[in-house]
Amino acid sequence: MGFRSIEELCGELNEKRNTAQAGGGTEAVSKQKEKGKGTARERIAQLLDPGSFVEIDEFVTHRCNNFGLNEKKPLGDGVVTGWGTIEGRKVFIFSQDFTVFGGSLGEKHADKICKIMDMAMQMGCPVIGINDSGGARIQEAVDSLNGYGKIFKRNTLASGVIPQFSIIMGPTAGGAVYSPALTDFIFMVDKESIMHITGPEVIKAVTGESVTSEELGGAVTHNTISGNAHFCAKDEAECFAQVRKVLSYLPLNNLDDSPFKATSDSVERADMTLREIVPVNPNKGYDVHEVLTKVLDDGEFTEVQAGFAKNIVTGYGRIGGRAVGIIANNADVMAGCLDINASDKASRFIRHCDAFNLPIVTFVDVPGYLPGIDQENGGIIRKGAKMLYAYSEATVPLVTVIMRKAYGGAYLAMSSKSLGADVVLAWPQAEIAVMGAEGAASIVFKKEINDSEDPSAKRLEKIDEYREAFANPYRAAERGYVDKVILPEETRKAVWQAIEAVQSKRETAPSKKHGVIPH
Ligand code: HXC
Repeated sequence: MGFRSIEELCGELNEKRNTAQAGGGTEAVSKQKEKGKGTARERIAQLLDPGSFVEIDEFVTHRCNNFGLNEKKPLGDGVVTGWGTIEGRKVFIFSQDFTVFGGSLGEKHADKICKIMDMAMQMGCPVIGINDSGGARIQEAVDSLNGYGKIFKRNTLASGVIPQFSIIMGPTAGGAVYSPALTDFIFMVDKESIMHITGPEVIKAVTGESVTSEELGGAVTHNTISGNAHFCAKDEAECFAQVRKVLSYLPLNNLDDSPFKATSDSVERADMTLREIVPVNPNKGYDVHEVLTKVLDDGEFTEVQAGFAKNIVTGYGRIGGRAVGIIANNADVMAGCLDINASDKASRFIRHCDAFNLPIVTFVDVPGYLPGIDQENGGIIRKGAKMLYAYSEATVPLVTVIMRKAYGGAYLAMSSKSLGADVVLAWPQAEIAVMGAEGAASIVFKKEINDSEDPSAKRLEKIDEYREAFANPYRAAERGYVDKVILPEETRKAVWQAIEAVQSKRETAPSKKHGVIPH
């Protein structure tokens, strides 16, 4: 019996490797490039630290014989999987290869993704999926559907244990969009990513509505209207930079701490411009981002869902090198009131921060909930309750800065002492009350105003009287609902001191399987 030489055996392996690396072949790759898209492996190389990617399962093939598929068994089965590092930290990754069967998901393709997810869970590392796929592989029928189901189950079990990021770099349709929706964040690329359950043709046939694919499921739509996506990039390179940035704030898993990033920006830094940015007149708007950049390390704030429900701002920053999650009302948009979308957006981000040990710093300037039939019929009661629930169940350090208005139920919802905030700070212009001075004076002094000789002058006098008495932080400070009234320029230092003080917080919730969160 003759043995083949080692050169021949190694040559065979190299040949197989080259075949696998070629994906769907030159023509399909050229088509991908013509669309301005990278290949599955190029994308991984761009995202991970150079040379860190280790590919596995490159010789996996499907075992479907329907519709002539037995004649076509591309190595790797349309998805590239493995691990590597981002800023030296290990991540597991899969990247669908559109050049092979349109990146469609069959049984073995799904198995490869599941293997990577299982490894990520076992090792306690983030998992990143690059999605570019025609959806369920039609020839593999119910095996494809089963593959999706297995991924959904894993997404759910991994939720809150390891960070899961979904990058959409091509089409994603049908039930296939649910895996990304089960992960922490969806990153989309303008004019490249598409996500929808049913496409324009089906919609036209069923409802008669006309819509383009881009209008229905493009990056702008999901980042501004539906709220399904969290980041929008102008191209693939910017998208990968966003992924790397977001990861830099997060621990590798729920038992880990976020990386500390040393800074030369002193925590003692007092910024006097904070006195001017937030006008004392509660009816004047301003951009809360300006406050955030003055308070955070090196003026750096990384926003999450920047284009959706802009009346509330969510994102990451650092104080004294430590990563924190930020929630802030934005007085520039709808006066910073809470509505259905803002409650949805904030609740999810609070739960994300709580799951991954990020202290939450909440900046409050909120006039209340948005009035309206749409809001009431749309479920603002349950959506608002969801936000109360999210803050109430959070066990991470909670630091609140009441900058100006904090009225009524919205005061409570924005990380109040009553819901469990550890340290509540307030600025001198803070107004913590059931409602604004105008509304309150008109109700409380109604008779006195109406009976007076000059009701409008009386009304103004009573508004001033009410404002003087109640529209300030001191009534709440007298009761201990505010722990400390601070000068605006002391905010950075005071927040840092508060986080340092409560960093070692240990809070345990009552034993239960899980709560039933309002939806
Ligand atoms: C098998 C597929 C495929 C699929 C694309 N291909 N989608 N093969 N199953 N789902 C193949 C094409 O046949 C083609 O093969 C190659 O991929 C490239 O596709 P093109 O159509 O040439 O590319 P393009 O013009 O860019 O169009 C991309 C596309 C379109 C918009 C994604 O291919 C498309 O509409 N595909 C079908 C989408 C779909 O209905 N999927 C099922 C969704 S339902 P060749 O050999 O010609 O190169 C679903 C249920 C999931 O996913 C449920 C989970 C619970």
